Amino acid sequence: MAQTIRKVVFPVAGLGTRFLPATKAVPKEMLPVVDRPLIQWAIEEAAAAGCTEFIFVTSPHKRAILEHFSPAPAYEEVLTARGKDDQLALLQAGLPETAKITEVYQDQPLGLGHAIWCAHEAVGDEPFAVILPDDMVLHKTGCLSQMVKQYEEVGGNLVAVETVPREHTSRYGVLNPGAETGPLVEVKGLVEKPSPEAAPSTLAIIGRYILDPSVMEDLSQFNKGAGGEIQITDTLARLIGSLPLHGFRFDGRRYDCGNRAGFLAANLAYALSPNGAGDQSDLGENLRPMLQSIIDAYSAT
Ligand code: G1P
Repeated sequence: MAQTIRKVVFPVAGLGTRFLPATKAVPKEMLPVVDRPLIQWAIEEAAAAGCTEFIFVTSPHKRAILEHFSPAPAYEEVLTARGKDDQLALLQAGLPETAKITEVYQDQPLGLGHAIWCAHEAVGDEPFAVILPDDMVLHKTGCLSQMVKQYEEVGGNLVAVETVPREHTSRYGVLNPGAETGPLVEVKGLVEKPSPEAAPSTLAIIGRYILDPSVMEDLSQFNKGAGGEIQITDTLARLIGSLPLHGFRFDGRRYDCGNRAGFLAANLAYALSPNGAGDQSDLGENLRPMLQSIIDAYSAT
């Protein structure tokens, strides 16, 4: 059985230009989906998968992310005095009590592979998870916990995958798939952001990875790939043959919060689904008729 996954890396140094002006002073990972920021949903998913060490690859202008996970004495004092225990619990921001937080800086936007490499000292010599908070997966126990279970059986490198429309392949790392066993797809090759014509399939990587620490050595060569960036996809492709690489078709619905429509859809889905902000039972009930009337009022004619 493969090693347990304790550490998770969140590459969150990017500028989030697609959400300007909202992201001028607020990091995109701090944009809320229903009642908590994207990064908190990601942390909760990692905690549900058993992770206890949370490594942020960030940049100095994104202090708000770390502040969100720091103690808030002013709130604590007021809420304690008012006896508001429910609200006090919310200040924990989804972090387990034993959580360890590490922050490393990515000083240049050299790509996702480079961002992951920036965490090499914090990761050390053990397998680790990577979550891209932009990709949300709405599922009762989250996507990463499903992956951890599979990883315990197969080890190596594991990436979450889903089928995408062929016209979208140039947004993703795309698999050249081999044999399939249940939800696992053997990977024979990988291409980062291929054109629809060149894509070897329509099976794309979404933002969840479980990686062997040996990826760091390959990443440290700083080889540039698609878009002139250092790509984790290329590293994973190069390691095929020396390490097993599988795609994992997860259960749950994925929302791409890296674009406005996906972000708004995630807000609605997380509000309406019992697996989203489901503890607030009146939310869906109140929202449903409002949503219907909005659709009625603004449907294209
Ligand atoms: C990154 C990866 C890509 C993956 C995608 C998932 O791309 O490079 O392989 O398919 O995340 O969201 P990005 O969205 O950062 O351009």
